[in-house]
Amino acid sequence: MSTQAPKTKSKEAARAKVTVRDFRQKKKDGQPITMLTAYDYPTALAVDRAGIDAILVGDSLGMVVLGYPNTLPVTMEDMLHHCRAVARGANAPLLIGDLPFMSYQVSVEQAVANAGRFLQEAGMDAVKLEGGRERAEAVRQIVAAGIPVMGHLGLTPQSVNTLGGFRPQARTSSAAKRLIEDALALEKAGAFSLVLESVPARLAEWISQKLSIPTIGIGAGVGCDGQVLVTHDLLGLFDRFVPKFVKQYASLHSVMAEAFAAFKAEVEERSFPGEEHSVAIKEEQWQALLKDLNGKTKS
Ligand code: KIV
Repeated sequence: MSTQAPKTKSKEAARAKVTVRDFRQKKKDGQPITMLTAYDYPTALAVDRAGIDAILVGDSLGMVVLGYPNTLPVTMEDMLHHCRAVARGANAPLLIGDLPFMSYQVSVEQAVANAGRFLQEAGMDAVKLEGGRERAEAVRQIVAAGIPVMGHLGLTPQSVNTLGGFRPQARTSSAAKRLIEDALALEKAGAFSLVLESVPARLAEWISQKLSIPTIGIGAGVGCDGQVLVTHDLLGLFDRFVPKFVKQYASLHSVMAEAFAAFKAEVEERSFPGEEHSVAIKEEQWQALLKDLNGKTKS
């Protein structure tokens, strides 16, 4: 970590804060909504600077940052900690905190209380939760408390054990019909938007046209009202497991590994740090020190 004071920020025109109304408007205007995940301050700064509409502090945190095999071990405290860091970095994007496994399933009261913590303690503007009709009452009550809710249908990673793995969903006509009913139930309950993950593109497009709220797709085709990717996937930072629907726009894992190897080589051959990375002392001060220590001046 650099211990230098930060340089003055470059002057960029401040973007207006994105709200749930902008989500609705973008859908009406047929303008795609952009969303990315972030879990820390520097990423939030960069996502904001790129003009992205929304940041999801997803519980994918568990897999791409904390190294768990799935999202189930992620806790409320993990989420709030990372949400606070993101909120310190991002100004304009709509900030959405992901309710982790077992923070909203036990009771509607628990769901409302935990959703509130994201806004009150962690600077988020909205929350996301997974599930369909079985979550409709929780969505209704969270929205009634003044907290915007984003739904999440299709491949819902918190249900990885009931789904039998991270696999595409709603590929039969009956499963597709259930998904449509769930989407309508969430809209009716007051969700402001819906993530559709790993479902057939034709189905996602059909749902997007049917709903008045915007859909945000991930592995759900181009017919959604917006798109989201996990930032570590997009950057090629996490290549332990790359879903088919991920497009890697960079290969930062190899860039990092190359930089680390270059550092190691330069340290080992003593070419780093160079003079330009070192702190100097004035000659007269050095001589005074030596005199003080030895009683005589050395060159
Ligand atoms: O946790 C997450 O990052 C998500 C996205 C994949 C939508 O839920």
